Amino acid sequence: MNTMNTSTAADVAPLPAQQAGRFPLGSRRVARIGYGAMQLAGPGVFGPPASPEAAIAVLREAVALGVDHIDTSDFYGPHVTNQLIRQALHPYRDGLTIVTKVGARRGDDASWLPAQSPAELVQQVHDNLRHLGLDVLDVVNLRSMLDVHGPAEGSLAPQLAALAQLQQQGLVRHIGLSNVTATQVEEARGFCEIVCVQNMYNLAHRQDDALVDALAAQGVAYVPFFPLGGFSPLQSQALSAVAAELGATPMQVALAWLLQRSPNLLLIPGTSSVAHLRQNLAAASLRIPAELLRRLDPA
Ligand SMILES: NC(=O)c1ccc[n+]([C@@H]2O[C@H](COP(=O)([O-])OP(=O)(O)OC[C@H]3O[C@@H](n4cnc5c(N)ncnc54)[C@H](OP(=O)(O)O)[C@@H]3O)[C@@H](O)[C@H]2O)c1
Repeated sequence: MNTMNTSTAADVAPLPAQQAGRFPLGSRRVARIGYGAMQLAGPGVFGPPASPEAAIAVLREAVALGVDHIDTSDFYGPHVTNQLIRQALHPYRDGLTIVTKVGARRGDDASWLPAQSPAELVQQVHDNLRHLGLDVLDVVNLRSMLDVHGPAEGSLAPQLAALAQLQQQGLVRHIGLSNVTATQVEEARGFCEIVCVQNMYNLAHRQDDALVDALAAQGVAYVPFFPLGGFSPLQSQALSAVAAELGATPMQVALAWLLQRSPNLLLIPGTSSVAHLRQNLAAASLRIPAELLRRLDPA
């Protein structure tokens, strides 16, 4: 009997998360659907979660289904999400890109507070390294806290200088920005290369349309946070109707819409449920025809 395995790479179907193609993020081309780990921390992103085992199962299933881009922060939990990622996935498989963010801390009442001084940023990078069990962080996003709820103009020069120095020291491979304006992206390029921008963007919040297009033209990733609407998942008659026509769920349509919006969009939907994770990754192979896409536009 011939026991040789004769399958070739061409015979192996891409894993679910990898069906929507890839786009550069730092040194790697990652699958366009990844995973946002914030929801794992527990209610209000303030840990611990009811079941750490369930959180670990979600992380392991994500990677098993082809996710190679995980978004996190040490202020989720705080510390809890990174510790769960380490427990679930360390030692990390080759090719897994973990993106973290710095610039905030949590109050004892679970509030989100700015932590933007150079000394605080250095401390946060070291906290991320320790809790994730890494010697170098793949990508660190500087999260602007000039306004916690949305981008606000203002210089981020001291913070960028501190991150650029950490990059020169070899603790940070690539730098991105979060909750920023186009002007701040330009300012940041005076300090270091910016490999991604992570702002709020989804079907119902398209304020960043111009920034998405500008970054696409420059070959830079745009990573929409709250791709499903965040703490209040997206709901609309149009979304439900389009989902019904496609035999998909509204959340899958919301993700497929983002994938079709621009090739530089890298998705990080969050969930604490393995069932939802599988549904979300299946959106990588959902195609919304043009006439249905139009029905998702504002009236
Ligand atoms: N840079 C920033 O300032 C910032 C801010 C917020 C978030 N983020 C990042 O962005 C990531 C994504 O944001 P997010 O997780 O807050 O919001 P999201 O991905 O827009 O939505 C998550 C919510 O949708 C629910 N959900 C997920 N999949 C679902 C499905 N298939 N069916 C029904 N409900 C579903 C989740 O509940 P279940 O757990 O029950 O599935 C959760 O309530 C975060 O994980 C974090 O990494 C960054």
